[in-house]
Amino acid sequence: MSVRKRPQPRPGVLAIDPYVPGKSAAPGAEKIFKLSSNETPLGPSPKAIEAFQATGAHLEDYPDGSAAVLRAAIGRVYGLDPARIVCGSGSDELLNLIADAYLGPGDEAIHTTHGFLVYPIATLGSDAKPVVAAEKDFTADVDAILAAVTPRTKVVFLANPNNPTGTYAPFDEVRRLHAGLPEDVLLVLDAAYAEYVRRNDYESGIELVATTDNVVMCRTFSKIHGLAALRLGWLYGPAHVVDALNRIRGPFNVNAAAIAAGAAAIEDAEHVERARQHNERWLAWLTEEIGKLGLRVTPSVANFLLIHFPATAGRTAREADEFLSRRGLILRAVNAYKLPNALRMSVGTEEANRLVVAALAEFLGRAA
Ligand SMILES: Cc1ncc(COP(=O)(O)O)c(C=O)c1O
Repeated sequence: MSVRKRPQPRPGVLAIDPYVPGKSAAPGAEKIFKLSSNETPLGPSPKAIEAFQATGAHLEDYPDGSAAVLRAAIGRVYGLDPARIVCGSGSDELLNLIADAYLGPGDEAIHTTHGFLVYPIATLGSDAKPVVAAEKDFTADVDAILAAVTPRTKVVFLANPNNPTGTYAPFDEVRRLHAGLPEDVLLVLDAAYAEYVRRNDYESGIELVATTDNVVMCRTFSKIHGLAALRLGWLYGPAHVVDALNRIRGPFNVNAAAIAAGAAAIEDAEHVERARQHNERWLAWLTEEIGKLGLRVTPSVANFLLIHFPATAGRTAREADEFLSRRGLILRAVNAYKLPNALRMSVGTEEANRLVVAALAEFLGRAA
């Protein structure tokens, strides 16, 4: 029998394990608390909602393909040249554009053991090879990353802080990483959670981008700005990288509602500060209270925390996930991140946070 011919994707495409988003449903539960995708419990700025609604009046018009208003707003807030900013449909799109532009068959891109899953997906999608650098204590290890560099390395992806571990690399370590990389390797600093970090030795990477030729920084509107539904991210990079990405991105890759809402959100400093303070308070509280229950929590600087469970039957991460889900508390299983004994929890509202601690206490069979 003759084998039927049919279109074939490039080999890397079929090697991808598709990304599985955080659950959003808990059948049977009366009220749902979605703590599985690191969304903000405060929602977006009211000014962003107003700007979003206003775009409804002109859905027949294409958006401004250069997102000029948005890039100008980002430039004002961070003191950056708007010409060196690219906006994307989520930072996911920007990560994929980087892979499209800089990776091809035979190339390698490095990420760390528990690094964000979009990095290997984007790498394989370009028919390049994802190379994993070991972490130390769930934290990026600069020496391991540098040791993984070969003449085929084209890109290094570093989430800082990292998802799902919540750990970060202090800025002198990021500088050391950059100093050790060949000049033709692109260092991608993915700072999706930068706004939450309260550490003197942390920087998102703006200065390194400004002063070098091979570093880009990606940011998102999905987390502290509460605009995940609109899909919006931005990148600050050297002019030559911005030029390359602008050539391959869709001419209208960011929609009008995202442009308007994003520009309003980023200039609402008060709303951002409220979200930061809420996170600071409840991240510390959750870390302490969950720790008191006897569960190990990886110290986090982001808006989520990684909770480790014992392998003992009756107390495993899988069983805890089921137990919490029945009560409408949806956390994130992180098996795909090679963390089968852990669950990731986004910092939620006070009500959600207290309910999770109480439910975990019940699960473990002790009083809260
Ligand atoms: C480290 C990291 N980078 C990027 C993203 C993607 O964000 P966006 O919604 O902007 O595509 C996420 C989302 O979870 C993330 O955790």
